[in-house]
Amino acid sequence: MSFHNRENSQVRRPLLAAIILVSSACAATAADNYTKLPPGPGRDVEVRVCSQCHSPELPATQRHDKAGWNDLVNEMQSNGASATDAEFAEIVNYLATAFPQK
Ligand code: HEC
Repeated sequence: MSFHNRENSQVRRPLLAAIILVSSACAATAADNYTKLPPGPGRDVEVRVCSQCHSPELPATQRHDKAGWNDLVNEMQSNGASATDAEFAEIVNYLATAFPQK
């Protein structure tokens, strides 16, 4: 009586194919968590330029007219913020619309 059980080596294949990585990365619009920044033209530029040193949500606590935002953005430029004049203008427009003087 031989106890010789031929092992039927059934290779269990994990159904890797079933593991579908659904990366539901929110497309285009809100690809970040800066909920304090309302959508609008120039938001992407603001996030890119103004997050070089601190949170791009920092201006969300303030309210200014366009001249006021222009002053603040100029101040950030002398702090070392780097962008083109057109980009700074876009940021000023965005901020003046998103956080207007009350
Ligand atoms: C090169 C670094 C740098 C970049 C880029 C930068 N900042 Fe700043 N920011 C600072 C520093 C440093 C302070 C704190 C000192 C001060 O107030 O100047 C500050 C402070 C601030 C404050 C709060 C201070 C206040 O005066 O009330 C706001 C609002 C602000 N930044 C907005 C912005 C915006 C908007 C942008 C994009 C245009 C920007 N920052 C880009 C460096 C930067």
